[in-house]
Order: sequence, then C-alpha cells, then structure tokens
Amino acid sequence: MKGKKNLNYGGVTWHVFVNLLLGIILSAVAIYGGLTFHPIIYLLFLPVPYFVLKAVKWGLGGNLEERLRIREELIKLVQPKEGDRVLDVGTGSGLLAIGFAKANKNVKATGIDLWIPGSGVTSLKTAKNNAEIEGVADRVEFKKADVRDIPYPDNCFDIVVASFVLHMVYKNREAAFKEMIRVLKHGGKFAIIEPPGDIDGG
Ligand SMILES: C[S@@+](CC[C@H](N)C(=O)[O-])C[C@H]1O[C@@H](n2cnc3c(N)ncnc32)[C@H](O)[C@@H]1O
Repeated sequence: MKGKKNLNYGGVTWHVFVNLLLGIILSAVAIYGGLTFHPIIYLLFLPVPYFVLKAVKWGLGGNLEERLRIREELIKLVQPKEGDRVLDVGTGSGLLAIGFAKANKNVKATGIDLWIPGSGVTSLKTAKNNAEIEGVADRVEFKKADVRDIPYPDNCFDIVVASFVLHMVYKNREAAFKEMIRVLKHGGKFAIIEPPGDIDGG
C-alpha cells in the first residue's frame, strides 16, 4: 500500500528556475555592458525585479499544501454533483481530476495531457500513481491528448476544468477554448486557474 507521502503533484521548479535565470542573465549583461560599453546598458536592470518577483510568486504557490488548498477552493466553487463527468485538461499529475473524483464518490473524472517533457514534474505514470494513492483509480482515467484537439464528442462533460495550463498553450490558444466549450454539456460548468498575468503570455 502506497502512503500519502508518495503523492506527487509536481512542482514549479522549472518556472522558478527560468525566471531566476532570466533575472541573473539580465543583471550580468547589465553590469558587464554598463562597465564595458555604455552606462545606458544599466537600464537592463529595470526588468530584473519583475523576473525575481515572478520566481518568488511561483515558488510560494508551488508547494503541495498550497496546491491542495487551491484544489479544495476550486472544488468548493464548482460543487460537483452526483454522477457528474469531469474533464481536467492538462491534468499533469492528475491534481484536479483526482480531487473531483475524491469530492464525490459518484463522480467520474478524465484527465488529458500531452505530458510535455520539461513542463513540470508530470507524467502519466505519476498521475496513475497519485490516483491509486488517493483511492480513486477506479473512477479516474487518463489519456494522452492535446487540449486543442480533445478526443471526446460534443456535450459530454458536466464540468471542464484546467489549472495552470492555458498560459503554456502558446500556439492556437483559441482552439483550446473552443474545444473545452465543445465537449462541455449545455449548462455545464467551466473553471480555469491561471497564474496572474500569465494567460497573455506575460
Ligand atoms: C504547469 S502543468 C499543470 C498541471 C496540473 N493541471 C496542475 O495544476 O498540477 C501544465 C500541464 O499542461 C500540459 N500541457 C501543456 N500544453 C498542453 C496541450 N496543448 N494539451 C494538453 N496538455 C498540455 C503540460 O504537459 C503540463 O502537464
């Protein structure tokens, strides 16, 4: 029997790393360029606080407790009912799909993802493992699929959710929204969580 301590809902190491790296590179270029070429190059320091703050924001929101708290908040808002079918797009390690299945024992959840390498510590294996640890493996299925081409018929889910995914869909994001709405039943519930400012690619 696998214990809760083996639960792995990924992390945000990648985002923290990239933002810090950008901050460091800009600072280094600003110092070198400012000293060697022209003081105007010191202006490159200006965006540095933005990247550092972004790294801190990702870091603070990235621990397991915080992710579970955000999941609970979302489930409270969406209120899944008996028999609902839930689609979690870009499910990663299954955070929302598993959460919704746990929230109501008659809910069936599906998680789709491309499990893109380098986009957080996510894999199909981790998602299945988490579903088993959380005791909902019989009511959660995972499938490799692109949010811009969802392999399910129209109007088939009562709830469609996505967390921290859409800012990563750089190309043809509109198709992702169209697909999520297409598979959602009329009168169904649609909820997304994104880091502030990131949905516009900022
Ligand atoms: C930051 S992770 C978030 C995972 C999960 N929703 C969570 O909150 O823990 C973003 C996920 O989106 C997935 N993703 C990115 N673009 C995608 C696409 N076009 N279709 C499906 N999944 C995608 C990545 O593989 C990754 O697992």
